[in-house]
Amino acid sequence: MSSSTAIPWKELREQARHATTTSYAPYSHVTVGACAITVDGRIVVGANVENASYGLTLCAECSLVSDLTRLGGGRLRAVSIVAGDGQPIAPCGRCRQVLFEHGGNELLIDAGDGVDPTSLGELLPGAFGPEDLGLRSN
Ligand code: THU
Repeated sequence: MSSSTAIPWKELREQARHATTTSYAPYSHVTVGACAITVDGRIVVGANVENASYGLTLCAECSLVSDLTRLGGGRLRAVSIVAGDGQPIAPCGRCRQVLFEHGGNELLIDAGDGVDPTSLGELLPGAFGPEDLGLRSN
């Protein structure tokens, strides 16, 4: 898929919703799923994984980035993050940073039906990233 191809938001949201069924969320009972498309058209998914030591919880976006890496890496183009009701939720602060590493300012974040997607650059302005270390991101 080239960067001019339309983003399949409906599919991303549906797969994110499906991923919520694989969440491990016995503490908050908030299931979260994430689904992204890479710039070369691959689909990656994730779901939140909680821990009895609450602060060690892995958000859905962390799980998604793990899936991305497992499937060969590359750049994220667009991502939908939803709760169990299928409605998009905002990525938490930590996950904005985690996503920035793999999508940068241009990564598009689903903001819901009939609403323009948000760019990660809008959600995390002035981000610290690989460039600040003089490194490429992949
Ligand atoms: N959660 C995510 O998976 N991603 C976010 O960006 C926000 C929060 C999860 C973590 C926890 O399992 C549950 O939502 C409640 O905070």
